[in-house]
Amino acid sequence: MKFGIYYIRRLFTGLVLLIMQPPVNAQPASSTEIKISDLVKKMTLEEKVAMIHATSSFTSGGVARLNIPELVMSDGPHGVRVEHGRDWEADKNVYDSGTYLPTGVCLAATWNPQLGYEFGKVLGSEASYRGKDVILGPGINIIRTPLNGRNFEYQSEDPYLVSRMVVGYIKGVQGQGISACVKHYLANNQEVNRNFVNVHMSERALREIYLPGFKAAVTEAGVNTVMGSYNLFRGQYATQNSYLVNEILKKEWNFKGALISDWGAVHNTMEALWNGCDLEMGTDLSMLPNPRYDKFFMGDTVTKLVRTGKIPESLLDEKVSRILYVMAKTTMLDRNRKKGEYNTIAHQQTAGTVAEEGIVLLKNENNILPLTASIKSIAVIGYNAVRKQSMGGGSSQVRAFYEVTPLEGLKKLAGNKSSITYSPGYKIERGATADPALIQQAVEAASKAEVAIIVAGWTHGYDYSVWSDNAYDAEDTDKPDLQMPFGQDELIKAVLKANPKTIVVLMGGGPVDMTQWIQDTKGIIQAWYPGMEGGNALAKIIFGFVNPSGKLPMTFPKKLGDVPAHKLGTYPHDEKKNLYYQDDIYVGYRYYDTYKIAPEFAFGYGLSYTSFSYSNLKVLASGKKVTVTVSVKNTGAVAGADVVQVYVHQQESALARPEKELKGFQKIFLKPGESREVVITLNEDAFQYFNDRLNKWVMEPGVFEIRVGNSSRDIRLSGKVKL
Ligand code: BGC
Repeated sequence: MKFGIYYIRRLFTGLVLLIMQPPVNAQPASSTEIKISDLVKKMTLEEKVAMIHATSSFTSGGVARLNIPELVMSDGPHGVRVEHGRDWEADKNVYDSGTYLPTGVCLAATWNPQLGYEFGKVLGSEASYRGKDVILGPGINIIRTPLNGRNFEYQSEDPYLVSRMVVGYIKGVQGQGISACVKHYLANNQEVNRNFVNVHMSERALREIYLPGFKAAVTEAGVNTVMGSYNLFRGQYATQNSYLVNEILKKEWNFKGALISDWGAVHNTMEALWNGCDLEMGTDLSMLPNPRYDKFFMGDTVTKLVRTGKIPESLLDEKVSRILYVMAKTTMLDRNRKKGEYNTIAHQQTAGTVAEEGIVLLKNENNILPLTASIKSIAVIGYNAVRKQSMGGGSSQVRAFYEVTPLEGLKKLAGNKSSITYSPGYKIERGATADPALIQQAVEAASKAEVAIIVAGWTHGYDYSVWSDNAYDAEDTDKPDLQMPFGQDELIKAVLKANPKTIVVLMGGGPVDMTQWIQDTKGIIQAWYPGMEGGNALAKIIFGFVNPSGKLPMTFPKKLGDVPAHKLGTYPHDEKKNLYYQDDIYVGYRYYDTYKIAPEFAFGYGLSYTSFSYSNLKVLASGKKVTVTVSVKNTGAVAGADVVQVYVHQQESALARPEKELKGFQKIFLKPGESREVVITLNEDAFQYFNDRLNKWVMEPGVFEIRVGNSSRDIRLSGKVKL
């Protein structure tokens, strides 16, 4: 009863809005809505209920009588997932080995929104080929702690960078007639106890840091589906959270599509029904092999509730309408979707380009890189040099059509010009520590070679079938600390002693603690999980065929204790599973730069084999807009790309603001000696902040400094503007 009039009124308003207004990006004439309401009218109660919950591992109900197909979903986010069958039993003899793109964090490191679009297009096309309607990606949770086991799937610590990358990705997917599903809404920023943790954050942190990516996905990209996360938010599960879903997503942002639960994230029928969840997914694995989908929270119970007048049927109709809306947008109702393509050369090339542009050169003392043709012997060391990563990580696993490992890529490119030896150096095994015999072998190989390349870092886990057991970059687990496992620090130190011409390549979803060896290492490359073409891309960078242009989408701290989420001691949660985001808006560089904590490598940082100069900064205000113009010149000997980053600093404000915030960027490609003018426009929102005393975005007039550079700590020019 307590839901009463308030909900009925809101529901009525919601329905009217849904039926009256044209959907985002749709034709004004609303034949879609008419068709949807006609279909809903023709459905029986049972048919409607069948549509709002799963019918197998990755489908929800259709209505054959009315030609409404099942909605077929698949992970996501960097390839179409292995076929798990309706019952989670991997299908045999199916053609499910497809394009394995670099993971989200590598995509974000390209700082190239156009590549976001190309990436999405590949996914959408392959999903379409495989008969999917919804691809469960992109994952865009803010990287708040480097320990989060799923950071590799996510994008950045910065909401602006996330927003720019996510729009391209979604448009790329949806342009293929497939729905994207942006996830995980909201505050699923760690995996430890993701099902129970109750996140509390200030309204300001919510608005400034955690929501903007999702808002861009909805209001700019017109995403058709959003996935609610497992955790609680301010005491209520996120998937059935009235404030997040009804108020913000559906009312403020006017979201027309469907809110899909994460798999098993619904906990209560009434809350889910009233608070905006449209589709309950997930299987209670303990019920296999005979799962009772009708017993879901949004199953038979809903039929009874309608029959007994405990909920109005219109509440159900709204959910069904939203799912039908997704189907209409996904060319499912008229069934005229163009067939996608699978494993094309073009798709593989996109995977390669993203890797080439996303791999970051972190250190290059004495120009140790690129390796020249005169190098005749190379010792490749490290298990990650031969490790295939595509099937790891949990739900984002992909059976790759092929996956070029770093060793294969290096061998292919070196051809017979230089000899390459390989030694593993360490073992990826449960609890494995430094192995003296393996280290000795590696040391011998390194001392005999002109150059050693150690491919080290994180891994998804020692056994891909057991996601969270001894895994590092994987679902349902966080890394225990920033120390590399399996004795890799000992290995690197020993190899460096044997051969100072050693390059360290790090794989993984984020930073490692490098303090034990960084001083002595001349070359360091961050390779992330670079996808099926990763080994080729890495080799091209190492041998100088590709000039690196990736920039860190997250700060690499010197040590875990420097990370605000950890420094404040609230990670992972208190004894009642409450997690207070006391770092507030000071996430990533917002913290390091404001509180003057030197990171190992700053947000936005990444080296090139050439150099760039910045000059002629002009900052011109017109009304509430500011145009930033800067000349960038390639002052080195090879072609390359730089990312011009524009940060805004407000001199005085009623509430404290971070030292600087990214509000614009552009990647430019320049030939040697070439210079170009880059123009970046900052709209009013670039100067606003969320004043949680007034509970609104404010633009406080005053002096703003516009800082232009190529990392948050390498500001080349700055200008002032009074607004
Ligand atoms: C993950 C989601 C994924 C879903 C379906 C969940 O465990 O959190 O990201 O899309 O499973 O596989």
